[in-house]
Amino acid sequence: MLLSFKDIKNNEEVLTYLKYVDDYFASIGYKEDGIVHALYTAKRAEYILKELGYTKRIQELAKIAGFLHDIGNIVSKRDHAQSGAVVAMHIFKNMKLEEEIYNSDAFEIFGAIGSHEDKKSLPPTDIAAAVVLGDKTDVRFQRLSSQEQRFKDIHSKVIAACDVSKVEVSKKKMEIILKLTIDTKICSIMEYFEIFTKRTIYCSKACSVLGCKFGLYINGDKFL
Ligand SMILES: [Fe+2]
Ligand SMILES: [Fe+2]
Repeated sequence: MLLSFKDIKNNEEVLTYLKYVDDYFASIGYKEDGIVHALYTAKRAEYILKELGYTKRIQELAKIAGFLHDIGNIVSKRDHAQSGAVVAMHIFKNMKLEEEIYNSDAFEIFGAIGSHEDKKSLPPTDIAAAVVLGDKTDVRFQRLSSQEQRFKDIHSKVIAACDVSKVEVSKKKMEIILKLTIDTKICSIMEYFEIFTKRTIYCSKACSVLGCKFGLYINGDKFL
């Protein structure tokens, strides 16, 4: 039996961990990093690979890795990518999918989870690159649940200012474009780049792994 996204999305252990992280992060005033972000990352990773013409199986693996990418927060936010890969390994074992644990599908998933915060390196695979793009383009203001959270620090302020975050893929031009609408009454474009320059470069690196250029538009202006 092949591991499917449906198995992971409905898995009690996965949902319990993501829900716990959701509640804990909300209690300490941190942005949402639970089920909604997991689903958002999964669907965006799948969409990017679909538009670029990857096989259904590759899309499915990216969707699974996207859903699980932040599962390591159950251990600690610090080094959550690496701990997340190990947590995923345990989840697969608990699902009794023995043949999944030692095959390349599972290794792809563990590798994508484990490498998703390595901003200094290129994502190691196409699946990992799609997960990075799904994750790092999730800058919706809805991830902050309260007014206090929105003005907690400059990082939160930038996220609070992001009204719309849209990703467009052109296979013809081999381009992946992030279009953001930012409320400049909350945060200036300069403040956006002060916080998100590393993230923008990382998205560029992920695009290059997929053989694409990365484009960035903010409020209709082209920055990249
Ligand atoms: Fe992460
Ligand atoms: Fe994430």
